[in-house]
Amino acid sequence: MSLPQTFQAALLTGAGAPIEVRDRTPERAGLEPQEVAIKMTATAINPVDWKLRDHPSIFFGDRLPAVLGTDAAGTIHAKGSSVTNLEVGDRVFFQGHLGKYDTSSFQEYARTDAAVVGRTPRNISDEQAAGVSLAGMTAAIGLYHSVGRGLAAPWDDNGGSQAGNGKAIVVLGGSASVGQYVVQLARLSGYSRIVTNASAAHATLLRRLGASTVLDRKTQNSAGDFVQAVGEDIELDCVYDTIGTPETQCLAVEILQKARKVRGGSAGAPSLVVCTHNADDKAVRQGSKLEGGARKVEIKGILAVGPAPEYRNVSEPFYVHVARWLEAGEFVPNSPVVVEGGVHGIEEALRMQKAGVSGAKVVVKF
Ligand SMILES: NC(=O)c1ccc[n+]([C@@H]2O[C@H](COP(=O)([O-])OP(=O)(O)OC[C@H]3O[C@@H](n4cnc5c(N)ncnc54)[C@H](OP(=O)(O)O)[C@@H]3O)[C@@H](O)[C@H]2O)c1
Repeated sequence: MSLPQTFQAALLTGAGAPIEVRDRTPERAGLEPQEVAIKMTATAINPVDWKLRDHPSIFFGDRLPAVLGTDAAGTIHAKGSSVTNLEVGDRVFFQGHLGKYDTSSFQEYARTDAAVVGRTPRNISDEQAAGVSLAGMTAAIGLYHSVGRGLAAPWDDNGGSQAGNGKAIVVLGGSASVGQYVVQLARLSGYSRIVTNASAAHATLLRRLGASTVLDRKTQNSAGDFVQAVGEDIELDCVYDTIGTPETQCLAVEILQKARKVRGGSAGAPSLVVCTHNADDKAVRQGSKLEGGARKVEIKGILAVGPAPEYRNVSEPFYVHVARWLEAGEFVPNSPVVVEGGVHGIEEALRMQKAGVSGAKVVVKF
């Protein structure tokens, strides 16, 4: 009932430094009763990984070497005495807890709580499963947690699967890792109209995932284009900005200010942008300007740390239900681009993700 005493890890030793593969001893080898030890089979790379490699002090202070990686798949290596939902050898996927290095995924073994582990269904490869947790959790927390939209989730008994019925949602960045999952959760929440944007090459995929309209972000990127796609006959519930640059945040605010009907509009409450980054100052100013009858818009930046106690009301049911949806083909994982080499492949994979991806997930196979 423990992690191995030592295993290989891809370590970050300084800001911007190349990843070093070394033996690592976990901070604690023994498992708590509710924990599992996972042998990594694949880890996905997310933008946060190279952002933290470049600026580790943002999160880690001076706690170097750091172990990055918070998105992975593997098999159960050992389990704590009170774990009943998983067995040794089960295939699983999970999110590392940012800053808790024993839970990180750029290493051969990790620990986490069994309650925030999903079972990988047979029809999904480990490389596909590795990219579900971080971006999926970001989509779910943004839509269902009170730090974001706070919508009833599809797993809630009191009509959660129809919570978006009669409403529209705009998803900026539909082809991004987070965007693909927001579009799919919006469909599972019953939204009547889902408007998104991406490069034209991804339009067919996004319609299959649930988008009603996919705007070509090269030629149809004005607030007017989105407002027209939403239409005048339906209430725009919120905008989920999965990209989060100052430009996309200002666009999100403008869409809500120009749409005919918005949630909160008539009651005078602010309408809502959920965003994967902190609110940008210019976008906040734009959303607070009420001249000419413009609507007030609130921007909620979220940080999706699923294993943290404050997010368990969403993250625990998310794992149970996303595993079922994956098995039933109702939730489709991001398409992986696989790098071989385990901990030795991390450096190359970080370089690929930072150089930019389009509708794909960089995944390292162990
Ligand atoms: N706060 C959190 O908890 C959290 C969690 C996850 C991610 N994030 C952040 O959220 C952002 C997205 O992450 P990700 O993993 O989803 O990114 P990603 O998959 O690497 O994003 C690449 C995609 O972004 C699209 N894109 C780029 N600029 C765009 C724009 N101006 N408008 C619309 N689409 C655009 C591209 O679309 P095309 O190729 O189709 O043109 C591409 O498919 C990152 O900044 C990341 O750091 C935050």
